[in-house]
Amino acid sequence: MQKWIMSGLFFAACAFAVILMFTLPGREQVAEQNSPTMPTVEANPAKAEQTVKANCISCHGDQLQGGVGPSLQQEGNNHNAEQIYSIVTKGRGQMPSFKDKLAPDEIANVAMWLSEKK
Ligand code: HEC
Repeated sequence: MQKWIMSGLFFAACAFAVILMFTLPGREQVAEQNSPTMPTVEANPAKAEQTVKANCISCHGDQLQGGVGPSLQQEGNNHNAEQIYSIVTKGRGQMPSFKDKLAPDEIANVAMWLSEKK
């Protein structure tokens, strides 16, 4: 009888642990909730280049080779479009937020353009 109760408890604890594992948000999910959702836009490389020239090269260099900010020449190896969208929208460290300077569509276009630089 006692064995029954023990194994019952054990099973319940396991089931509880499994349920927790699935219901508690993982680190990644939490990060996801904090990052803005990137709008879907048609890729426009010419426009992206223009936006970057006007807003980014003062810190990232005219060839994106880096300066105040890191080089973005191979940014696609570091971050995907959504991550870049989030960094540019919210800012990070010394990197200013562009939320009030650029439209979400413009940031998304730049993010896609940079994410293809590998
Ligand atoms: C005032 C200077 C400044 C301007 C302007 C600026 N950045 Fe930055 N950027 C930085 C700095 C500094 C960092 C490093 C931030 C850190 O240490 O977390 C950075 C980081 C980044 C990163 C992450 C790089 C990595 O691999 O970690 C991306 C992507 C980026 N910037 C894109 C842009 C884009 C796109 C623009 C133009 C819309 C822009 N930045 C304009 C200073 C700037």
